[in-house]
Amino acid sequence: MNKNLYIETYGCQMNIADSEVIASVMAEHGYSQVQDITRAGIILINTCSIRENAEQKIWNRLKEIRSLKRKNRKIIVGLTGCMAERLKEELLEKELIIDIIAGPDAYRDLPALAKEAENGRKAVNITLSRCETYSDISPAYDENGGISAFIPIMRGCNNMCSYCVVPYVRGAERSRDPDSILKEAGDLVRRGFREITLLGQNVDSYKYISGNQVTEFHHLIEKVAMTDRLLRVRFTTSHPKDISQELLRTIARNENICRHIHLPVQSGSSRILQLMNRGYTREDYFSRISAIRNIIPDCSISTDIITGFCTETEEDHEETLSLMKWAEFDFAYMFRYSERPGTRAARRLKDDVPEEIKLRRLNEIISLQNSLSKKSKRHDIGKVFEVLTEGFSKRSADSLTGRTSQNKVVVFPGSGKKKGDYVNVLIEDCTSATLKGRII
Ligand code: SAH
Ligand code: SF4
Ligand code: F3S
Repeated sequence: MNKNLYIETYGCQMNIADSEVIASVMAEHGYSQVQDITRAGIILINTCSIRENAEQKIWNRLKEIRSLKRKNRKIIVGLTGCMAERLKEELLEKELIIDIIAGPDAYRDLPALAKEAENGRKAVNITLSRCETYSDISPAYDENGGISAFIPIMRGCNNMCSYCVVPYVRGAERSRDPDSILKEAGDLVRRGFREITLLGQNVDSYKYISGNQVTEFHHLIEKVAMTDRLLRVRFTTSHPKDISQELLRTIARNENICRHIHLPVQSGSSRILQLMNRGYTREDYFSRISAIRNIIPDCSISTDIITGFCTETEEDHEETLSLMKWAEFDFAYMFRYSERPGTRAARRLKDDVPEEIKLRRLNEIISLQNSLSKKSKRHDIGKVFEVLTEGFSKRSADSLTGRTSQNKVVVFPGSGKKKGDYVNVLIEDCTSATLKGRII
């Protein structure tokens, strides 16, 4: 039988990392990954449920995959990840081509599920675990000169933000053994990786207790940073209610921990933040930003914003705009609220902001953020940044691209330099998306 495995990944960085765990589990059982879907004996779609349109994308993709399966009925199609967990057996009824359903904590079981499917039975495992962290599985990293990797340091989430499906589809928060994280970081460094991003839904609540030793996030990140000083360390996501002074001081004293914090605010209105169950007010958020600016003056700050949450008024929306102006975010991901069945907001609040108002407000925040992002880039002109080279620029073959510690993309002419090299670049110009400069 055909043991070619094709994996397609949707959703967040956590899912990208999970796909590598899946590939590794399957490789142990003789499956080898292919990049061409038409050669696959088994197709796994690693899915996302965060907003309705994320799921819609997957339904559409399944329609396309139907024709492959019609041509070759032996192909096995599996859905893994958050949407598999959310919709469970319901998926089998809605889409007949699906053979396997595996939730985020069931990846060790995938080879057995695949076997069942080969025998013509539908195979389902959506059990969530309180302890699964896949800490002993070495992910199947890109061996073709990859320089950047993600390491999940925890799974699940305990926060119960009222709009969010993650706690339901990913289960309770659990932190991974720091020794396994450090081992993975060390392996990556030996294989030539230059950048590691530590991943969790709320990294600030990372905590691992072993005997009388307690490891918190700031301890962990410092240890990872000390693995190799040429390694860049990033992390995401921080939560405004939990980000600590110790973490900020740890970043400040370790130059290879990147000067970039992603601190999702979601809304600028304290009333809406309370309905969202975020655990902080507008003022608390201001004081976090001030602390970051005091302790790490060259830090960039990015955020996530949801517009049109239940009961949001024009005044609430204005408060989001004014908070954005005050914070001067360098970058933002912006979404309109999408009701997720089963969440607290879906059960208790009315999704009462009309779609056209959500859209208008979203366009307003996007256009404000565009001008803030431009301002942030213009501010860098004339300065010199250390850039980690990531490869050739898509636009021009003799230009290289890389990022600053602040996570801004830089394009620069760079003959003789290659992926993984650090270079000092003087910024001379910028476009809406990138900085432009030359090596000095
Ligand atoms: N754990 C992270 C982010 C998780 S999801 C955090 O707490 O910040 C990424 C982003 O998707 C969220 O920050 C939020 O802005 C957005 N999001 C989550 N649920 C959403 C929903 N129901 N509708 C619209 N956006 C949503
Ligand atoms: Fe969702 Fe909130 Fe957890 Fe983030 S912190 S994953 S938004 S519940
Ligand atoms: Fe999506 Fe699941 Fe990530 S819902 S955003 S893939 S945790």
